[in-house]
Amino acid sequence: MPAVRRPDDELAACANNPAVTRRFPANRARVVRLVLFAGALAILLAACSQDYDYNSLAPQGPVAEKQADLYLLTFWIAAAVFVIVEGLMLFALFRFRRRSDDEVPKQVHGNTRLEIAWTIVPALLLAGVAVPTIGTIFDLSGCDGDAVQVEVVGHQWWWEVNYPELEVTTANEIHIPAGRPACVTLTSDDVIHSFWVPRLAGKQDMVPGRTIELQIEATEPGVYQGECAEYCGLSHGIMLFQVIADQPAAFDAWVGRQRQAASPPAPDSELQATLQQCLACHAIRGVSEPPPGVPIKGPDLTHVGSRRTIVGGWLENTPRELARWLRNPPRVKPGSLMPNYRLTDEQIEDLVAYLRSLR
Ligand code: CUA
Repeated sequence: MPAVRRPDDELAACANNPAVTRRFPANRARVVRLVLFAGALAILLAACSQDYDYNSLAPQGPVAEKQADLYLLTFWIAAAVFVIVEGLMLFALFRFRRRSDDEVPKQVHGNTRLEIAWTIVPALLLAGVAVPTIGTIFDLSGCDGDAVQVEVVGHQWWWEVNYPELEVTTANEIHIPAGRPACVTLTSDDVIHSFWVPRLAGKQDMVPGRTIELQIEATEPGVYQGECAEYCGLSHGIMLFQVIADQPAAFDAWVGRQRQAASPPAPDSELQATLQQCLACHAIRGVSEPPPGVPIKGPDLTHVGSRRTIVGGWLENTPRELARWLRNPPRVKPGSLMPNYRLTDEQIEDLVAYLRSLR
């Protein structure tokens, strides 16, 4: 008669089978859990850095401050609600649990007074939160009269920046005087983008065919990182920009330099011939500008050498990065309108030197 195998025997046989233990090490599940826990902890702690460029809880200007204050007020109210509700639930679970197999806890159904209370209290809370919310919305809408006027147009994938009153045009960086509001008028040339400088103001969509005003202000001089916050196609992730808050005198000096025209390359030089390809889409004041009314397709290059970044705020403005970009634009920025012109090393070197001289 064959021996009857009990489940314990099978378990033991399984645990002693090298083929099984090799595939399922005893502590594998624990390792996986530990790795997942450590990963989640790392992600959570990464949010604690105060210096992080995208930390909207470390506001650097009055607009972002009001938004952060409103957020924190709502957050702490929500946190209190969470603690009270979860606390009551845990209390009820513990206090009214089934204590033995043959005893069924007291069964109840409905409590009019309680139900009225938990309907009215949240309604009052929401109404209470609505007051500062609506107040802040009205407070932050529109611009102050003395604000510096800036027009920003979103393009796939770069930022056109115009100062209509100052007659300055640049790209991918917005200079503003520190301590003074700037009124940014936002629109888009193609699809919906979103203008976001976390330390200066919340996100604002840029919609084709519409203009939306957003006031920003930086209390202290500094560089504030911004990015497109609305998925807008292939290179959305590298559509970046910077807001540079200057001391007022430095801002005026910057405007003075930006208003000057560029000097053209030597006539009949090879550089001039190469540059012609660029001028089909880019303006360089003093060299070539599109006729009035003709929309530009690429960033104004009149003072490209003075900018901190190139390629939609994605690359540092260094000779090396500029050469990398000119060698094969679609490879650096997928979907880029600028094609690969198959320039020779010499042409690239000449172009880099010329573009760097446009300061
Ligand atoms: Cu522009 Cu995303």
